Amino acid sequence: MAIEWKPLEDIKDGAVLAEDLYDGTSFKVLLSKGTRITKEILDNLKKREILWLPLESEEGKKEELEKIRNSIDLDQELLKVEEPIAFGIRFSVPDEMYRGFITSFKELSEQLKIGERVDKESVERTLGAVVDDLLSQKEYVVNFFRKHVSGYLYKHGINTAILSVMVGNTLAMSRYHLIPLAKAALFHDIGLMFLNDPEYVDVGKASNREKILQHTTIGYKILSSYEIIKQRETLDAVLEHHEKYDGTGIPFGKKGEDINFYARILQIADAYDSLTSTSSQALKLTPYQALKWILVRAGKDYDPYVLNAFIKILGMYPTGTKVKLSDGKIGTVIRTSGAGLLVPVIMIDGKLIDLSKDKSVWIVSVVS
Ligand SMILES: [Fe+2]
Repeated sequence: MAIEWKPLEDIKDGAVLAEDLYDGTSFKVLLSKGTRITKEILDNLKKREILWLPLESEEGKKEELEKIRNSIDLDQELLKVEEPIAFGIRFSVPDEMYRGFITSFKELSEQLKIGERVDKESVERTLGAVVDDLLSQKEYVVNFFRKHVSGYLYKHGINTAILSVMVGNTLAMSRYHLIPLAKAALFHDIGLMFLNDPEYVDVGKASNREKILQHTTIGYKILSSYEIIKQRETLDAVLEHHEKYDGTGIPFGKKGEDINFYARILQIADAYDSLTSTSSQALKLTPYQALKWILVRAGKDYDPYVLNAFIKILGMYPTGTKVKLSDGKIGTVIRTSGAGLLVPVIMIDGKLIDLSKDKSVWIVSVVS
């Protein structure tokens, strides 16, 4: 990577130091190579009257960005299909908003990955719009992409955020709390992008599993150092999203209500999206199977109180479940009817039937 010397006043947050920086009098290393420059560092250097810094050149960064983009293009080749949970029905938020959200989150993640200045405002704006849209809805439809050309991580962050807001709203949380909840959910797995970064993980020594286990603490560090999330409560949610209700989780082994409340919400949304959209065809569950998987872990992995709210949104037959009716016809569940968990609104041949109102037919079994 080429080195470029810059005067302090031209240096932006996130620039990366290209060489160790020594103190002129004691010859101790003040900052080591690879350090990302923050505003505090700049202020300190000014006090020490250091006026120029050797930085990794922007050109080099562009090359790196290009490399990342190319590798993402490769992923896209493998993931050509955009596949929603249920075909032929609307997404949980308007189509354009949903796709725009995925794009801006993807861009921000790429900028973070290469230490470029981060445009967090665009994600924050979309986040606010998504929360407002969900607050205006009377009936939620839980329909997302389970596969998307942007790749798993981006889509997963967005889906987890949307689902978390639905649960939070059902628990009567105010907009004031829903925004930070959505933010924690959006960024909860961002640490996964840095598992091969020697600044955060001992790449040579750590096994894959050990690396993955560190993604909560890495995410916490990245989000706080770039000030993507400022509130302690929200950062703690990222840090604690793999804690388990019975105290057997990571990183602290916290138990029950000691676990951050946002974390207890987002981990259920996280599980549902992960289970229905894993890239492994063999492991991928139908929405109905995923819900059952989560339900049997109530009180063990998940907070039963939060899970209750989650079931209110999904019903016992989640969106996308294929059900057989008493008249032999097969339908697809669209959403709950609001009148009970077992009588959803279903679609048969493009026609909607609300099973809470139409009592002439009922669900006899789940097809898939
Ligand atoms: Fe995670």
